[in-house]
Amino acid sequence: AQDDTAVYHEQYRPQIHFSPKAHWMNDPNGMVYNEGVYHLFFQYYPGASVWGPMHWGHATSTNLVHWQEQPIALYPDSLGFIFSGSAVVDKNNTSGFGKGGKVPLVAIYTSHDTAGERAGRNDYENQSIAYSLDNGKTWTKYSGNPVVKNPGIRDFRDPKVSWNEAANKWIMTLATKDRITFFSSPDLKNWTKESEFGEKLGAHGGVWECPDLFPLDYNGQKVWVLIVNINPGGPNGGSATQYFTGNFDGHTFTPDDTTTKWLDYGPDEYAGITWSNTGERKIFLGWMSNWEYANVVPTEKWRSATTIPRELGIKKINNQFLVTSQPVKELNSITKPFTTLTNVKATDYTVASTTKLTTPYKLSLTTDAVKDFSITFSNKSGEQLVIGFDKATNQYYIDRTKAGESSFKQSFAAKTVAPRFAQKASIDLVLIIDAASVELFADSGLTTMTAIFFPEDLLNQIHVQSTGGVVLKSLQLSSMQSIWK
Ligand code: FRU
Repeated sequence: AQDDTAVYHEQYRPQIHFSPKAHWMNDPNGMVYNEGVYHLFFQYYPGASVWGPMHWGHATSTNLVHWQEQPIALYPDSLGFIFSGSAVVDKNNTSGFGKGGKVPLVAIYTSHDTAGERAGRNDYENQSIAYSLDNGKTWTKYSGNPVVKNPGIRDFRDPKVSWNEAANKWIMTLATKDRITFFSSPDLKNWTKESEFGEKLGAHGGVWECPDLFPLDYNGQKVWVLIVNINPGGPNGGSATQYFTGNFDGHTFTPDDTTTKWLDYGPDEYAGITWSNTGERKIFLGWMSNWEYANVVPTEKWRSATTIPRELGIKKINNQFLVTSQPVKELNSITKPFTTLTNVKATDYTVASTTKLTTPYKLSLTTDAVKDFSITFSNKSGEQLVIGFDKATNQYYIDRTKAGESSFKQSFAAKTVAPRFAQKASIDLVLIIDAASVELFADSGLTTMTAIFFPEDLLNQIHVQSTGGVVLKSLQLSSMQSIWK
């Protein structure tokens, strides 16, 4: 939907995922829906394609599919780099930033003072705010920044703010080293500490970062989800997104079980959080990379893309709440059926050939039973990505060992796995394959995995094998149209 045909077609360039035209991007920030516009801000360094002094880049969309990159929203200042954070629509003008009846958008972010860090201080990360009265086009930083001062904790960042009905206040969910600290405020400017959570729960193989807190509806029951990104310490190495389910009463988060759960088990979804101001609907987006190798992946003009937006839901399995992820339905507008098959006995079956499929695509299938199967995606250069299910371990897997360039990091060429949670007697699987990534949604999103890879050409030859003799009750292959045309 924009005139970017020339820039968006380099090798490895995602065609159905947002990536900046040039230079470095990491976490999605300040995602907020306002007046028909989905805003996506992101950690951005306009000076190079590696991490550097952080700005908030900006992109907008009216449909969650087509993105328009906008001018940089926030630049580093005397308080530091602009680290991750969130944005809210301050409908009641609690902040007083609104003027002439204009509703302010308020961004809440971390000011990261590298000079303070270098000087050996512990309090170099503080929370600041900025507001916009023109739906995100221009921003004014608050003169009273920072609004939450650091008590001396080295990792003290990534504020996610939302209005909380029970407290009748704004609640800030902040990552504070090895736990979450909740703060409350009537006006987004004055914050009071409410409680801490998680020092003894969840994964602790790394620093807690980029949290989120929101309710999901389970048959009329409000289940609170607390997302906590962690780096390193993910289930397949490096950075990943864990979550807790439970209750938040306006002051304290009380978990309803103590298992460590992951929103995405793959190696390449990180810093994922949800849009604010989308009502009951919760739309999640992550950064499609991993701090283990993000700075050295073989794209030079730009580095990194986001995942596709995913709608979150909640299910109960074995008396435990699990969050589900599914591609947002808006993607249907660029998804066109290519091949539809029913009742295919997949002992050794070729679905598509190289000559026909030239775009990103979606593969959906349903099996007759829970049996081993594998799908090999390959290209004319002989590279291959293997995705499947292993019954003995009850795991899904993505094997990118031979899927293309991997010399930039030894641990990259690997097979990653994820547990199956569903108890149904058949498997349903959705795979979305772009130029350099795959996103797997199994069992209606109960198991999700994201992985990137760097092949010579599109992996558009698809071959299904099953030693267990699985029957594909249905198999649908759809082409997905580039969002940059
Ligand atoms: C997560 C993170 C955040 C931080 C930002 C800096 O990827 O480390 O904790 O705010 O990236 O760019």
